[in-house]
Amino acid sequence: MSSAGGGRGEPAGAALDGISMATHESLIESFQRAGQAQVFAFLDTLGPTERARLLAEAAEVDLAELDRLNRTLLNSKAAAGIDLTDLAPAPYEKRPEHGGDGGAWARAKAAGETALREGRVAAFTVAGGQGTRLGYDGPKGTFPVTPLRAKSLFQVFAEKIRAAGVRYGRPLHWFIMTSHANHEATVAFFAEHRHFGLDPARVHFFRQGRMPAVDFSGKILLETRGSLALSPDGHGGSLRALSRSGALDLMAREGIDTLSYFQVDNPLVRCIDPAFLGWHRLAGSEMSSKMVPKAYAEEKVGHFCRQRGRLVVVEYSDLPMAMQRETDGAGGLRYLAGSIAIHVLDREFVRRMAEGGEGVALPFHRADKKIPTIDAAGNPVKPDRPNGVKFELFVFDALPFARHPVVIETLRADDFSPVKNATGLDSPVTCRDDQLRQFARWLRAQGVALPADATGRPEVAVEVSPLFGYDEDSFAEAWRARRPQPEVREGLYLE
Ligand code: UTP
Repeated sequence: MSSAGGGRGEPAGAALDGISMATHESLIESFQRAGQAQVFAFLDTLGPTERARLLAEAAEVDLAELDRLNRTLLNSKAAAGIDLTDLAPAPYEKRPEHGGDGGAWARAKAAGETALREGRVAAFTVAGGQGTRLGYDGPKGTFPVTPLRAKSLFQVFAEKIRAAGVRYGRPLHWFIMTSHANHEATVAFFAEHRHFGLDPARVHFFRQGRMPAVDFSGKILLETRGSLALSPDGHGGSLRALSRSGALDLMAREGIDTLSYFQVDNPLVRCIDPAFLGWHRLAGSEMSSKMVPKAYAEEKVGHFCRQRGRLVVVEYSDLPMAMQRETDGAGGLRYLAGSIAIHVLDREFVRRMAEGGEGVALPFHRADKKIPTIDAAGNPVKPDRPNGVKFELFVFDALPFARHPVVIETLRADDFSPVKNATGLDSPVTCRDDQLRQFARWLRAQGVALPADATGRPEVAVEVSPLFGYDEDSFAEAWRARRPQPEVREGLYLE
C-alpha cells in the first residue's frame, strides 16, 4: 500500500465509474431529504466531469453524522463548554534529573530497544494539515528547516528513521498520512528525493478523510458550483484512516504492534525514542504521551488531566484561567503537564477506535472559520470573517479510551520546536535557533568549548545530520568515534 487511499475520500473518477444513474438519483434524493438540496443547485450547469466530481464528493458525506453534528455542535446550547467536574492534574513519569526513578527509565529504554530490534515499531507522521498559519505553498513536510543545509522536515524525519533502523539492525516502516490536497505533491517529493535513502517499500502514504464545512444554519457549503467545501477531518482522523487504508493490516502482517506518532511540523522530535517506547510497552499501555512542564501558566498548550479515572487532555481554551494559574503547595503550577502531540499507539487500540462500537468514538470539535464559498448566483465569495464551521477530530481524544495510558516527561529542548507560524513564536527562526542550541548542547556534553549567548544559542552555526547522530546518545558515540575530531567553526556540517 505504498500510496493507498484513505477511505471516503477516493479520487472522484475511479470511484464513479460504476455508479449508475439510479444511484445518482437516490444520492440527490437523500440530500433533499436531509435539507441539503443546495449542494446540487448548479448541477444542470455542469459538464460531465464536474458533475461526476460533485456527485463523488457528495457520496463521501455521511449525512447522518452531519445531522448529528449540526444538532450537537451547531445548534445545541450544550455545545458551549466542556465538563470540568472531578478534574485533577494527571500523574506523569518524571525524568531522573527531576526526581524520577533512574532505574525505571533505564529499564524502559532497554525494553524499547528490544522492541526496535524485534522490528515491532513503525514511525507515523500526520501530515494532512492545511498549514494555513505558515502560509507556505506546498506540503508542510517539504518546508526547509535545518540551519545550514536547509533540509526539509521530511528529510530530517527520514534520516532519523533511517539512522534508527541501522542502529537497531531493523529498518523501520514509516506511515505518512496526507490529505487530498497534498497527497500527490507529497508522494512526488519523496520520489524526487529517492525517499532520502529509505527503502520505498517501507514508506507508506495514505490520505485522511474529509468533512464538509457548513454555514451557521448547518447547510453544506459549496466551494465552487461543482465542488463541496471539504477539509481534512483533523489529526484524529488518522485513527480511522490507518484502518481504512489497510495500514493496520500491513502492520499486522509485518509483526508491527506499536506506532510512534508525531506531527510533521516538529523537526526536534525524537521520533524513535526507545525510553518512550519502553515505558509504553512495560505498562501495557494502549496509548502513551509525552509532556513538557508548561513554560508559564498561560502557555497555549493542552493540559494532561485525570477525570474519573480516565486520562484526558483539556485544551487551554477550555481550562479556566484560574485553574491554569493554580499552584501546588510548593509554588509550582498545579496543571503543569503540557501536551506536545507526541504519542505511542498500540495497533489493536487504533483498530478498536477506528471500528467504533458502543460508546467508542472520538468526539468532533467545532471550529468557526472563514470558508471560501459561492453566493446564490454562483459567484465566488472570500469572506473576511467566519462564515461557517469546520468539524475536526483530535487524536488526544482517544486517551480516555486507552487502557493503562502512560504520560512521561521530556525536555522541550530535546523534543519540541514546531514550525507553526511564518514569524514570531514557533516560526522557522525559533525552530532554527532551537536546532542550533541542541547541536551545541550535544557538542558541549562532549567537552567542546562553544561560545553561546545566554539562551545557549551558539555564536557559530553548525549542523548535525541525523545520519551522524539523531539524539544525544547516538551523537556521543559518533563523536567519540570520529578521528580526527573536526574543528567546530561556522559552517561545520557533521554527517
Ligand atoms: P495543526 O493543528 O498545526 O494544523 O496540525 P495545520 O492544519 O497543520 O496548520 P494550521 O492550523 O492550518 O496553521 C498539527 C499536526 O496535525 C496534522 C498537521 O499536518 C500537523 O502535523 N494534521 C492536522 C493532519 O494531519 N490532519 C488534519 O486534518 C489536521
